[in-house]
Amino acid sequence: MTKVSITVDGVLHESEVEPRTLLVHYLREQVGKVGTVVGCDTSSCGACTILLDGRSAKSCSVLAVQADGSSVTTIEGLAGDEWHPVQAAFKECHGLQCGYCTPGMVMSAVDLLSENPNPTEAEIREGLEGNLCRCTGYHNIVKSVALAA
Ligand code: FES
Ligand code: FES
Repeated sequence: MTKVSITVDGVLHESEVEPRTLLVHYLREQVGKVGTVVGCDTSSCGACTILLDGRSAKSCSVLAVQADGSSVTTIEGLAGDEWHPVQAAFKECHGLQCGYCTPGMVMSAVDLLSENPNPTEAEIREGLEGNLCRCTGYHNIVKSVALAA
């Protein structure tokens, strides 16, 4: 076991993890952040996307030990007293159906908009390229990100 210190949604957690523990499993099973979900475990779907030191990352492709000393933001840490503008825009534009991809979509969109606050539709689609949705056809997701921008 290895000791790691990771700040998750503003709270410092000091934990023992196995060297092979994936960050997504650490977040869900040791910190209880079950809003971050596993869709594939092969770095393909983006459902597990979180912000790692402010940049989006697929938490199934990062070991917990690699995040030692870092700050992680999950979907559960995004909102304050009110929803984050990206969350509110997804609601407004019906940017979700079953909702399984939504945490990852939202976190990727937050990163995209922090880099490019006024993206074109093509830039939104490119920015969300690593996130798969089996329900929506993507149209309302793209509209949501445009509204949030
Ligand atoms: Fe991480 Fe699919 S669970 S990319
Ligand atoms: Fe169902 Fe995207 S809303 S997978």
